[in-house]
This record gives sequence, structure tokens and C-alpha cells, in this order.
Amino acid sequence: MTVPDQVVLIGPPGAGKSTTGARVARALGLEILDTDAMVEQRAGKPVADIFVEDGEPAFRALELEATRSALGTPGVVALGGGAPMQPAIAELLADHKVVFLDVTIAHAAKRIGFDGSRPLLAVNPRAAWTKMMGERRPTYERLGTVRVDTGDRTPEEIVDDVRAGLTGLTGPTAPARAAVPS
Ligand code: S3P
Repeated sequence: MTVPDQVVLIGPPGAGKSTTGARVARALGLEILDTDAMVEQRAGKPVADIFVEDGEPAFRALELEATRSALGTPGVVALGGGAPMQPAIAELLADHKVVFLDVTIAHAAKRIGFDGSRPLLAVNPRAAWTKMMGERRPTYERLGTVRVDTGDRTPEEIVDDVRAGLTGLTGPTAPARAAVPS
């Protein structure tokens, strides 16, 4: 069984994209590419500062550029939570193996702590996250070739689920979409 040489992770803030991405990359012997980190490097400042000083459209333009660049090379690509909502990015993802890391508000809250580093969750974070997830879920589900539930799972279990989902997709009778139960 083989795994693809490029895997894209999508999901809301707190789904564990960065942590899982680094571990999946190590397990598959691939490079990790984190689009938020690429944007920060390009802009020379944290995402929160880009939002405040340059505005969200400027951030989204950098995010699209980083995504185009990341998808051009083999590796595990961890996208920012809002990236798949950009139609241009959604279109790019159609040709890739995409893992939707799913999570509930309770588990997301534990992971991210709502510390102010995510500008879209700065005011009333739980309500903002819940509204955001409601709007985005259909897109995450449509674009995900595999869905992995990350709540109540250790990082090791999540990596195993991602690998299992991906290898399950590569066989001759593999389903078009696969869900890995929590
Ligand atoms: C965003 C999520 C963040 C980051 C930016 C916008 C969003 O990434 O890209 O703050 O729109 O949900 P994470 O999903 O890694 O928190």
C-alpha cells in the first residue's frame, strides 16, 4: 500500500492541523508546509498583525499565494482554517488528497485556548467559532476526500487515522470518499 506524496489538511481552528501536519509529515517522510507560517514569513509579522494593520483581504491574498506555492511541491500542506473558503483555493484542492480534520467546539477550545492570536475569534470566541464552523462545514466536507475526527484522540491516533484513510483511498476498489470514525 502506498500513500500520496502530497496531502492537504483542512479544518477549523483547533482541529490540530499544524500539530497533526508535522507528525503526518514525519510519519510519511514528507516536508511540512504550513501556509500561515509561510504568510507570516512573507509579511514579516504575525497573522494577527496582518489582519489589524493590512486587513483581512491582504491576508487572504497572501494566503492564496502561499497555498499555490505549497501545492506545487510534494509535502504535507496544513492550510489556515479559512483558506478552503476562497473559491480559488477550493478549485486548486480538487486535484489533491485532502484530509478534513473535524472537531467539536469543546475539543477545539481545549487546543487553542482562544488566546487572541486568531483575529476572527477575538470577540466572543466560542460563539464566533460555532458560527464559523456552521458556515464552513459543508465546504470542508465537500473538499475532504477523507474525514478524521480529532476530538478525544491522541496525536498518534490521529496520525494513524490519517494514514489509514489515505492508504484506504489508494487501492483499486477504494471509495471516492472515506470517513474514519472517532
Ligand atoms: C483563520 C484561521 C487561522 C489563520 C487566520 C484565519 C480562519 O489559521 O489562517 O487567523 O479564517 O479561520 P488556523 O486554522 O490554523 O487557526
